[in-house]
Amino acid sequence: MKITYLGHASFHVLFNDVNLIIDPYISPNPQAEHIDIGALKADYILVSHGHGDHVADVERIAKNTDAKIISNFEITTWFQNKGLSGHPLNHGGKISYDFGTIKYVNAVHTSSLPDGSNGGNPGGFVIWSDIECLYFAGDTALTMDMKLIPMTCPQINVAILPIGDNFTMGYEEALLASDFIECNNIIPCHYDTFGLIEVDRPTVESAFTAQGKKINFLSIGDSKEV
Ligand code: NI
Ligand code: MN
Repeated sequence: MKITYLGHASFHVLFNDVNLIIDPYISPNPQAEHIDIGALKADYILVSHGHGDHVADVERIAKNTDAKIISNFEITTWFQNKGLSGHPLNHGGKISYDFGTIKYVNAVHTSSLPDGSNGGNPGGFVIWSDIECLYFAGDTALTMDMKLIPMTCPQINVAILPIGDNFTMGYEEALLASDFIECNNIIPCHYDTFGLIEVDRPTVESAFTAQGKKINFLSIGDSKEV
């Protein structure tokens, strides 16, 4: 798979030749102003929860691309009521497509939508094919439920975890999350976008390195092949 960082907690993932966009928050983010939203390819848009810093560009990208939105029932319904196409999941549920399987898993956070609508409960995604597996944690605290993922899903090749603290777990707990999910190859997100979630990268890098783990800081627009 090829993972491209779009800033904050937003990613494009080329997964088995299918284009996935996760939690697009690009146009409101000055750090991502070099990202051309109109050029993004999307077959599916995965939305972890309802907060504005995860849904800001969903509608625009969905209209550009005819992508199908995959999220929990409440968020999917909210977008379907805007005339967009979606498939609802709920926690513990998965759907299999030709390219792979997408499972919606627990996250500990909140999930109101920008207009105050009920965005259901927040989640993360595990996405796998016969040969690879990605975990996108979404906005979450460290949770014991992460231990269920290696028991119920294929071995994770790479995990995208929040590290910015304040609204999610910080990097110290992301280290424990890495143990819980049995994956030592981490891409960080949800840091440095605004003041409350700034991190000191050398500190984070040395904490991961000291435990034999890899933390891949990506510049916005850069990609990583896994
Ligand atoms: Ni959030
Ligand atoms: Mn967030």
